Amino acid sequence: MTDSSNTMWGGRFAAGPDAIMEAINASIGFDRRLARQDIEGSRAHAAMLAAAGIVSSKDAEAIREGLLTVLSEIEAGVFPFSTALEDIHMNVEARLKEVIGDPAGRLHTARSRNDQVAVDFRLWVRDQCDAADGALAALMRALLAQAEAGADWVMPGFTHLQVAQPVTWGHHMMAYVEMFARDRGRFADARRRMNESPLGAAALAGTSFPIDRHMTAEALGFDRPCANSLDAVSDRDFALEFLSASSICAMHLSRLAEELVIWSTAQFRFVKMSDRWSTGSSIMPQKRNPDAAELIRAKIGRILGATVALFTVMKGLPLTYSKDMQEDKEQVFDAADSLMLALAAMTGMVGDMTANPDVLRAAAATGFSTATDLADWLVRALGLPFREAHHVTGRLVALAEGRGCDLPDLSLSDMQGVHPGIAQAVFAVLGVENSVRSRTSYGGTAPDQVRAQIARWKEALA
Ligand code: ARG
Repeated sequence: MTDSSNTMWGGRFAAGPDAIMEAINASIGFDRRLARQDIEGSRAHAAMLAAAGIVSSKDAEAIREGLLTVLSEIEAGVFPFSTALEDIHMNVEARLKEVIGDPAGRLHTARSRNDQVAVDFRLWVRDQCDAADGALAALMRALLAQAEAGADWVMPGFTHLQVAQPVTWGHHMMAYVEMFARDRGRFADARRRMNESPLGAAALAGTSFPIDRHMTAEALGFDRPCANSLDAVSDRDFALEFLSASSICAMHLSRLAEELVIWSTAQFRFVKMSDRWSTGSSIMPQKRNPDAAELIRAKIGRILGATVALFTVMKGLPLTYSKDMQEDKEQVFDAADSLMLALAAMTGMVGDMTANPDVLRAAAATGFSTATDLADWLVRALGLPFREAHHVTGRLVALAEGRGCDLPDLSLSDMQGVHPGIAQAVFAVLGVENSVRSRTSYGGTAPDQVRAQIARWKEALA
């Protein structure tokens, strides 16, 4: 380039930047992750410039070929990244000049780094939406396999983490299938909305060159070009939507992780995590710690943190581009990496864990879990109003509690002492199997309902 004082904009600048200015300004340390997208965008741009007669076909071909050479250098790990060249866009262009010479100077016609970074980043985030979608489908399959194995295993259902009513293992697993399916839906929605091309918005106002934005949009797999050039270069909604969807997904992962942590304790023993997802203790030989589950539980912290950080960066920015927006990338990279790792670890853990049906069943029978069944029986068999049935059942629970036994352990005469109408038939509804079998309302925990949901999801995922 022209003079030694400033490699990038020597025309206007007499002196180079202060070293600390260079340090705060450079993004090459992280935006090198956009290299593939940057080169893809530039190749589409060069082809369009030739098609529109803005550069010669010969120059455009040299540019497109040269960019592939640059890409192969980056992929081989031999590319000489330079902080003085600030970012991935300038690094690639400068290297292209070394590889192909003068035609490289024509690539940046009718384009700015503002639309360039916007297109690169959209392509990157779009790929992440697809990756999250695939990882979520894999996790749903692992949960479905667990649900199928134990569609009718009875376990306690909780509210307030107190035993509430018996449910089935399959039903509990399928609850997470529903959550992760909604997460997939959020990534799909975000992807659909972000799939517009900012390329050709140039610095902010568009360009006087006769470019074809529809051509580049199509070449890059976008549905259409963004319709407002100011919006195109300054919008980061797509990254915020990705982060928001990631945060909700991470919250779901964290809830499941929390359950696995609790369930694998000596006090619960609902599940045994496989060795592959556990760690030992350096001092306590008996320990088997659910570290993977704990780390998944924690990932929401950084993912939600990234979301808040980017909202904060964006909230006060006037149109259009401001350098603040360079702070978008690290947040999204870190959140995406964390989410993908957490999804992969959860899928492995769920696939490898072994539930303990005997322990689940025994736990389901504790805590007067069939008290609601008893109250419902009083309504059905004796015609009691539900409020009165609730009261009678409460007295029976108190009686059992006083005796230190469960409801089915009370004798018929004990029960008749509380309400004379109670008959032997009541004992049938006090069993946990009968309890879950009776919950046949749509979406309820009856094994037939659960199996119907499993079948529906298996077909949807096939
Ligand atoms: N590295 C910059 C970023 O990530 C690229 C865009 C720079 N544009 C500019 N006008 N300085 O945002």
